Amino acid sequence: MTQHPSNEIAAHDQHGAHGAHGEDSLPEIPHVLRQTDIDPRAARRAERQVATMFGLSAVSTILFVVAFVAVKKDSVINLPVIGPIGGQNLALGMASGLALFLIGAGAIQWARKLMSDEEIVDERKSFSSDDETRDAVVEKFRQGTDESGFTKRPIIRRTLLAAMALVPIPAIVLLRDLGPLPEKKFRTTTWAKGKRIVADVSYKPIRPEDIPIGGLVAGALPADIREVEELQGNLNERAKATIILVRMDPSEIRGQQIPGGDVDGIIAFSKICTHLGCPIALYQQRTKHLLCPCHQSTFDLADKGDVIFGPAARRLPQLPIGVDNEGYLVATGDFQEPVGPSFWERG
Ligand code: FES
Repeated sequence: MTQHPSNEIAAHDQHGAHGAHGEDSLPEIPHVLRQTDIDPRAARRAERQVATMFGLSAVSTILFVVAFVAVKKDSVINLPVIGPIGGQNLALGMASGLALFLIGAGAIQWARKLMSDEEIVDERKSFSSDDETRDAVVEKFRQGTDESGFTKRPIIRRTLLAAMALVPIPAIVLLRDLGPLPEKKFRTTTWAKGKRIVADVSYKPIRPEDIPIGGLVAGALPADIREVEELQGNLNERAKATIILVRMDPSEIRGQQIPGGDVDGIIAFSKICTHLGCPIALYQQRTKHLLCPCHQSTFDLADKGDVIFGPAARRLPQLPIGVDNEGYLVATGDFQEPVGPSFWERG
C-alpha cells in the first residue's frame, strides 16, 4: 500500500513524472487540490460553516427539551396536506431530527473540506500462482499419491471407489419417506350432492336470501366438515373444501365452468389459490375480480373464474350449487377440477 500526501502528488505531477508502479499498474490520475488546501481564507470559511452546523445542532437539542416542557401534550396543529397532528410530537420530532441532521451535515462538510486529503493506492495482487508454486503443488500431489500406494495397490483402489459410489444410495432410499403418493386425494374433496353449505366459524346453513346482490361470503364449508375431520384426524379436508360465495346480477355472469351451476346469481368457487394455495377473499364487487394477496393472481368470477392477471396458471374451480327443499344452499356435486396449486400428476 502506498500513500501519497496531496502536496507530494501535486509536486510530482507538476514535473510531469506520472511513472508506473509496475507493468500492471494503472496510470496515476493527477490529484486536484481543494480550494481549502490552497486558500487559508476558504479553509477558515469552511471551519466556520462546520462550527455553525454543530452549534445549531446543540441549539436544536436544547429546543427539544424546551418543547418537551413547554408544548402541551394534547395540543394539535393542522398541517396542510397531512392534516391534524400532535403539536408536541411535531416539535420534538423536528428538534431531534434537526439536531441529528446538523451533526451529520457538519461532519460531512468537515471531512470534505478540511480533513486530510490523502490518496491511497492499494495494488491488487495477481490471483494466479506462479509456475514455480504450481509445479511444487503438482509434485507434492504426486508424492502423496505414491506414498499412499493408491496406484500400486489396485484392490484398495477398487474397493474404495466402489464404497464411494454406493455412498449416495441411502440418500436416494430416504426419498421414499416423502411418500406415500397422494393418489386421488388431491383430485376430490368432501363436497357431494345434497351437502348443505354452512358459514365458516358459525356453521349456520346459508339461504340464498342471506346474500344480497354484490355480497360475498368469504368462507363456507360442507355442513358435515367437523365429523369428516374427526374421522380423518386432520384438517386437510377443511383446507380443500373451503369455498367463497358471491352474488351478482345473473345478467352479469358471462360464463360458468358448470352451466347452471349458480342459484339466482350466487356462485361458489374454491377459496384456495391455484398458484401456491393461499386463501383468497379480496373481492372487488364492481369488477367481479378476486385477488390473491400472496402474489396478486386475479380471477374473474363473472367469467368462469378465469385468471386475468398474475402467476396462477389455472382458473379457480367452481362448485356447482342448488337449493334443497327447505330452501338452503347445497352442493350439487364435487368440484369438476382439482382445487389448489398444480401438482405433478395433475395432467
Ligand atoms: S398463491 Fe395466490 S398468487 Fe400466489
